[in-house]
Amino acid sequence: MDVSINSDQLMAELRTLASFSSEPAPVVTRVVFTEADLRGRAYLRGLCEEAGLGVRADAAGNTFFRWVGRDENLPAVGTGSHIDAIPNAGMYDGTVGVLGGLEAIRALQRSGFNPARSIELLLFTSEEPTRFGIGCIGSRLLAGTIAVEDARRLKDGNGSEFDEVRRAAGFEGELEEVLLVPGYYSHFVELHIEQGRLLERERTSIGIVTGIAAPASFFLTITGEGGHAGALLMPDRHDALAAASEIILEVESAAKSTGAVDTVATVGICDVFPGAVNSVPSRVRLSLDVRDIDEARRDDVLSAIHNACEQTGARRGVRVEMELINADAPAICDARILDAIGNACAASGISSKRLVSRAYHDSLFISRIAPTAMIFIPCRGGVSHRPDEYASPEDISRGALVLARTLAQLAC
Ligand code: HGY
Ligand code: MN
Ligand code: MN
Repeated sequence: MDVSINSDQLMAELRTLASFSSEPAPVVTRVVFTEADLRGRAYLRGLCEEAGLGVRADAAGNTFFRWVGRDENLPAVGTGSHIDAIPNAGMYDGTVGVLGGLEAIRALQRSGFNPARSIELLLFTSEEPTRFGIGCIGSRLLAGTIAVEDARRLKDGNGSEFDEVRRAAGFEGELEEVLLVPGYYSHFVELHIEQGRLLERERTSIGIVTGIAAPASFFLTITGEGGHAGALLMPDRHDALAAASEIILEVESAAKSTGAVDTVATVGICDVFPGAVNSVPSRVRLSLDVRDIDEARRDDVLSAIHNACEQTGARRGVRVEMELINADAPAICDARILDAIGNACAASGISSKRLVSRAYHDSLFISRIAPTAMIFIPCRGGVSHRPDEYASPEDISRGALVLARTLAQLAC
């Protein structure tokens, strides 16, 4: 089958999508349900309608673009990713899987391929945790891994609830209806940048993702006693920020202590109250993100961190509270899809290697309801979640070509 990717069109569309941002170029900030996100969604919808795809959106804003196959009774093959972007991000995270997925479908249409199964491009809502504190809300609701009531009540920094914000963005219906029926997809494949440096380092064009690491996130609140920076003597202090600093270093050493390269832990947010030069901090709020492809090892790290919090709290006379946001199992990708991706690479003379994903993706949750796998392309220096995130047109086109050939194998 002669399949070819229109690289110029794909790159032009990626650049146009990048222009829908609440920050000026080269920064991309596109937080879910903001104007930038809604403009990006509208742009994508227009492109998919031009390609003759059927369009539907669910109550959470997940949007489905379907190329109807010969037999509509067969479960569809799915592909897709996200277009929401964290503050101060780049233009390739998520978007390569959405626009690359669209171009893969168009390339198959141009080749005259006529799929038995429908092929559906899926745009997920809120893959990033930026606005509502937890990632993958759309795919969690599709897979039924979050209680609808919990999703409904998620609040953003202004106290607005997810349910209110998604309705204001124009997504009607009830969140209970988002759940996909078992067997909705026969297979799901997501194209994404690696967000690591393995492929680039090994000069390999495609990563065949065999597993997705198990993410967990918490908020820690450390409460001490405030006071005057000049008058409060050191022996009398219960300084919340000094305690938090000890805890942050304990988080780092707990992750390093497993000796496994796959164990990672990050404190990304540190809010200090009252945040005045001459006032001893009385309260600190930390975010905690801990991941590992091995779930039991990740949970051991969480226990070590929990113990360190208790000991630091007792020693310093501060209260430490841990609020769980999420603790998810890893995803093991489907062997048949892995083979199909490998075949697609071989048929195109493209180098590939199997690896795990340390970032989480919507595929982590779709893997709960459908055989799932991912295709990675290299990104320069492994940089992501930064404006200098970069993937070359050649790598992006190779990714879309391998995706097209993979979808064709799964949909015929
Ligand atoms: O945090 C992640 O792994 C993803 O990029 N949201
Ligand atoms: Mn991301
Ligand atoms: Mn992503």
